[in-house]
Amino acid sequence: MVADMLVLVLGGNSEIALAAAEKFAQHENADIILASRNLEKAEEQARIMAKRHKVSVRAEPFDALAFDTHRQFYEKLDPKPDVVIQAFGVLNNQKEAQKEFDIARNTLDSNLLGAVSILEPIAADFEERGHGTIIGISSVAGERGRHSSYIYAASKAGLTVYLDGLRHRLWPSGARVITVLPGFVPTKMVAGRTAKFGATPLETAGRDIYKAWKKGRHKIYTGSKMRYIMAAVRALPEFVILRIRNI
Ligand SMILES: NC(=O)c1ccc[n+]([C@@H]2O[C@H](COP(=O)([O-])OP(=O)(O)OC[C@H]3O[C@@H](n4cnc5c(N)ncnc54)[C@H](OP(=O)(O)O)[C@@H]3O)[C@@H](O)[C@H]2O)c1
Repeated sequence: MVADMLVLVLGGNSEIALAAAEKFAQHENADIILASRNLEKAEEQARIMAKRHKVSVRAEPFDALAFDTHRQFYEKLDPKPDVVIQAFGVLNNQKEAQKEFDIARNTLDSNLLGAVSILEPIAADFEERGHGTIIGISSVAGERGRHSSYIYAASKAGLTVYLDGLRHRLWPSGARVITVLPGFVPTKMVAGRTAKFGATPLETAGRDIYKAWKKGRHKIYTGSKMRYIMAAVRALPEFVILRIRNI
């Protein structure tokens, strides 16, 4: 069967992105490319998804930190995708990142520079074609710096603003950019951590991302409560935040 669209997942083993890609396969008869630095695992995920939804799913090698390879990676794709889900990211230990600059740099390189490096050639192609949607997965962490995660938060704040600007740039061409701001979603990234403001189930996060694309939204939180929680967090005066230590 000929697919109706092609979805490229950057960070193809991301559990949130896989949950979203499932929705595209299920509801849009989309073929999927899982671009990952762990090809073996991505191939396994591809087999599972292809069997479940009767679509074509393949894995491609992709490393968000291999900036030099990004342009060629995208140029080689034929056909080009209709939707790109940029999901790769790392959540390094904040205390270790304070001590070891290499760890801080890995967070910024992976979450921010890696995204800029691969999304620029994709944006140029989408702009020229006047078609395509980039879905960037940022984080609520980027909305307010806290002592427990400010290096990760800084990378995500940068990503959120980058995606804002990219959306503004691409708008006249017809290409679209959606920013996703998840709160706590139980995936391997946050294994062993607990949710500060309640968790969003993985299935809900995937569904919300797909619905955002379907409805032509620009920026979403995942889960129904996060929008209100973050409005409150943003509104807290600095002198109050400074006295709260357990966030
Ligand atoms: N889960 C949450 O609570 C939460 C909250 C807010 C935002 N987010 C964001 O949501 C996105 C997806 O995270 P997730 O929760 O789905 O966690 P996840 O399952 O751990 O997915 C993150 C993925 O990023 C990939 N990755 C990391 N560095 C990479 C690199 N250099 N090249 C290629 N891939 C790389 C990892 O690949 P490997 O599988 O090879 O390690 C992993 O599959 C992330 O950007 C994260 O920051 C998550």
